[in-house]
Amino acid sequence: MAKLVIHDLHVEVEGKEILKGVDLTIEQNETVALLGPNGHGKSTLLAAIMGHPRYSVTKGSIFLNDQDVLKMSVDQRSKAGLFLAMQYPSEVPGVINADFLKSAVNSRREKPVTLFQFYKMLDTASKEMKIPFEMANRSLNEGFSGGEKKRNEILQLKLLKPTFALLDEIDSGLDVDAMQTVGEAIRAEQQKGMGFLVVSHYARLYDLITPTRAVVMINGKIAVQGGPEIIRRIDTTGYEWIKAEYGIDVEKEEAGMNTVSIGSCAVKEMK
Ligand SMILES: Nc1ncnc2c1ncn2[C@@H]1O[C@H](COP(=O)(O)OP(=O)(O)O)[C@@H](O)[C@H]1O
Ligand SMILES: [Mg+2]
Repeated sequence: MAKLVIHDLHVEVEGKEILKGVDLTIEQNETVALLGPNGHGKSTLLAAIMGHPRYSVTKGSIFLNDQDVLKMSVDQRSKAGLFLAMQYPSEVPGVINADFLKSAVNSRREKPVTLFQFYKMLDTASKEMKIPFEMANRSLNEGFSGGEKKRNEILQLKLLKPTFALLDEIDSGLDVDAMQTVGEAIRAEQQKGMGFLVVSHYARLYDLITPTRAVVMINGKIAVQGGPEIIRRIDTTGYEWIKAEYGIDVEKEEAGMNTVSIGSCAVKEMK
């Protein structure tokens, strides 16, 4: 069973240290929920695991089994079984969605797929994700709605079949039906053994995919780890209890980038 081991990870973005010693191990048969106030480093952690060039690792290690992930290019990380569904997927005008997917699929195979095989795979995955097939012939993410971009990320995941999928706010921009579709797609992959690290502010997504445990990122470190009951607690009461119970001062949540957060948006049980 594959294992992703992150040890004492320090990461800087534009000269500012964001991750200040992250320790986290994820087994392949786990789905780990990653929570935390905005601006505390969740996306930074996922981007650093995938090798985004803007995020520089200044200390620590990431291993996928015995492979030193930090020595690998993004492309090698992807082939080794890592996958990142981004919080804000980029639009890539001129790169046709289907061509992009086909080269990504082929880069993982010794013998390229035939066009027929590929279209069959794409057709099945598009139907499962309720994405119109003609979207495959448009430029990657260009002019896609927020929800279409997110469903397209999961379509990629279905075709690339990583060992570990890192999902960064995959549910933002999704309506209830699309959330259900994405939740079902994740569940199907969980059953086939894919490991997940999932960032979300919504207990509703977590209800669909039932994480095996939850970790909370505060001030660039994993401050709290535990069972999935932590999700419910944060959903109903926010992050204040962490200060009371763990003595950790939660630095001010970052405004502007993203204004919703678990605890501030999910108030249905707080009447
Ligand atoms: N590409 C970037 N350029 C500049 N600053 C960034 C970038 N990405 C993240 N940051 C900064 O790093 C900090 C952590 O951000 P992030 O990892 O996105 O937090 P989260 O995902 O928990 O909301 C924030 O202060 C943010 O402004
Ligand atoms: Mg983020």
